[in-house]
Amino acid sequence: MEICNRESRLYASCHEKIHREETFRQGKVSTLRELIDALHDAFKTDHVDIDHVQDLMASYKSNPLEWKKYAKFDRYRYTRNLVDEGNGRFNLMVLCWGEGHGSAIHDHANAHCVMKVLQGELCETRYAWPSVSEGSDDTKELEELERNTLRLNDICYINDSLGLHRVENPSTMNPAVSLHLYSPPFETCSVFNKQTGRKTSCKVTFWSKYGEKRNREIQNTRDPEDN
Ligand code: SIN
Repeated sequence: MEICNRESRLYASCHEKIHREETFRQGKVSTLRELIDALHDAFKTDHVDIDHVQDLMASYKSNPLEWKKYAKFDRYRYTRNLVDEGNGRFNLMVLCWGEGHGSAIHDHANAHCVMKVLQGELCETRYAWPSVSEGSDDTKELEELERNTLRLNDICYINDSLGLHRVENPSTMNPAVSLHLYSPPFETCSVFNKQTGRKTSCKVTFWSKYGEKRNREIQNTRDPEDN
């Protein structure tokens, strides 16, 4: 009898697993946990279907109860808070934007970037790559390509072939929170001066990891390119 129960439990859990995987494959998730599991599934081989990854990110509906443990704000600038290291194939993180906080104009170090608004609104501004050649003394203001308002649960996608961007929380009243996926993960990217088009290398760091470890060293440094 006990064996029979165990078997039927095994059958049920196996059945559940197959059902869950099928749902993930259709690009549907209901919780942050499911999103993370589905992303691990999507990145389990070297070939990544980035449309599928975007479907997964879009299908998750923001639930603050699930992500608030990662949402650690700083009063001076936006913060990056690591949620999952994706077996080395992607990084998933929560970014917290105080009122008026924004990122520098940056590239994505040959990575895919999918971002989703979890709370508030963000403004994304895209720029063309600098037209002056690297190493030349010439300077030229970066050409703005488009501005997009990202509202609750909206996603946006960028990679280097689509240009550069910066993101900001335009609100003077409300904070904003977003979920970002980068694949492959990167530790440095380039930031660009809007007026001259000149670039500098910038280290990307985490304010917190897994909702717990706060990094004092990072908290005490300020990057002059960032707001
Ligand atoms: C963004 O502006 O896309 C966020 C940049 C970052 O990951 O720090």
